[in-house]
Amino acid sequence: RPRVLSGIQPTADSFHLGNYLGALRQWPKLQDTHETFYMVVDLHAITVEQDPKVLRERTRVSAAQLLGLGVDPDRSALFVQSHVPEHTQLSWVLECLTGFGEAGRMTQFKDKAAKQGTDRASVGLFTYPVLQAADILVYQADAVPVGEDQRQHLELSRNLAQRFNHRFGKTFIVPEPHIVKDTAKIFDLQDPTVKMSKSASSPNGIVELLDDPKRSAKKIRSAVTDTGREIVFAPEQKAGVSNLLTIYSALTGRSVEDLESAYAGKGYGDLKKDLAEVLVEFITPFQERVNSYLDDIAELDKVLARGAERARQVASRTLSVVYDRIGFLPPV
Ligand code: TYM
Repeated sequence: RPRVLSGIQPTADSFHLGNYLGALRQWPKLQDTHETFYMVVDLHAITVEQDPKVLRERTRVSAAQLLGLGVDPDRSALFVQSHVPEHTQLSWVLECLTGFGEAGRMTQFKDKAAKQGTDRASVGLFTYPVLQAADILVYQADAVPVGEDQRQHLELSRNLAQRFNHRFGKTFIVPEPHIVKDTAKIFDLQDPTVKMSKSASSPNGIVELLDDPKRSAKKIRSAVTDTGREIVFAPEQKAGVSNLLTIYSALTGRSVEDLESAYAGKGYGDLKKDLAEVLVEFITPFQERVNSYLDDIAELDKVLARGAERARQVASRTLSVVYDRIGFLPPV
């Protein structure tokens, strides 16, 4: 079976609709066809300041959300990144193969560093994409389900795999991004020209899956649209309406064309009201599932420990090949 690896940061109290529709929705589906490795990337989370107590809490809540979305720990290795030391070990090796300028061209780094100022931005923020490459390559992943904003990081992972293979002999699978075009970028509800983002969106621009469903419904109903009337998918001219149609289509499985004809002659208010209901119907049972996983922390921690053990079996095999290829003496 081909392998899949993906991760999500525990940097907010809840995943948002962009995380879900852009990436997480694919995770359970891929369990049918792939050997799947899914993790909460706590190492990546500390590239910006985190409160230890909050980080611990969010890591568990993240894992519970993944379970609530259908990640099945019997079929997937579900784990916490810091439980598998091979990620950081491989990351060091890959850092030594990454150009300083190459890392400096990563747009997410440039954006975050510009926001924080170069003196406050950490070296970890700079090497973040290399650790991500290690995450992927250490499992020999064939495919990586992510949203559009991760494309450049995936490209770096591919380049590093190829570079290593070229220099030391074929060692790594060169991973493919698995980006579903229709939902690759979900936009902010208040400013539909920018992506929905936990760090940049205003509270009304972002739908958090664990937020009170009534509040989320209200956010949908007050989403920014244009002054026209027609409900058609036209991202350039009608960014707000198009974003709502994308979300509606993804949550219901109805095609955008089908929605367009169903709403012909109706108003934006009708569309928003119906989408708000669809969203609440999705969110409410999801939250119940998440809460039930969080009711038994001991069991949750056990699931994560099992996942890490499974992950380590694969990761340690790759790492020992890598160490050998680059000429490290085996510790006999
Ligand atoms: P993170 O935690 O920022 O986001 C998790 C996933 O959500 C996707 N996403 C979106 N998709 C569509 N529209 C949006 N508005 C939107 N916002 C977020 C992201 O593309 C991502 O797939 N660097 C990664 C975490 C990571 C990782 C990895 C991913 C670490 N190691 C290895 C894959 C493989 C990140 O920050 O994702």
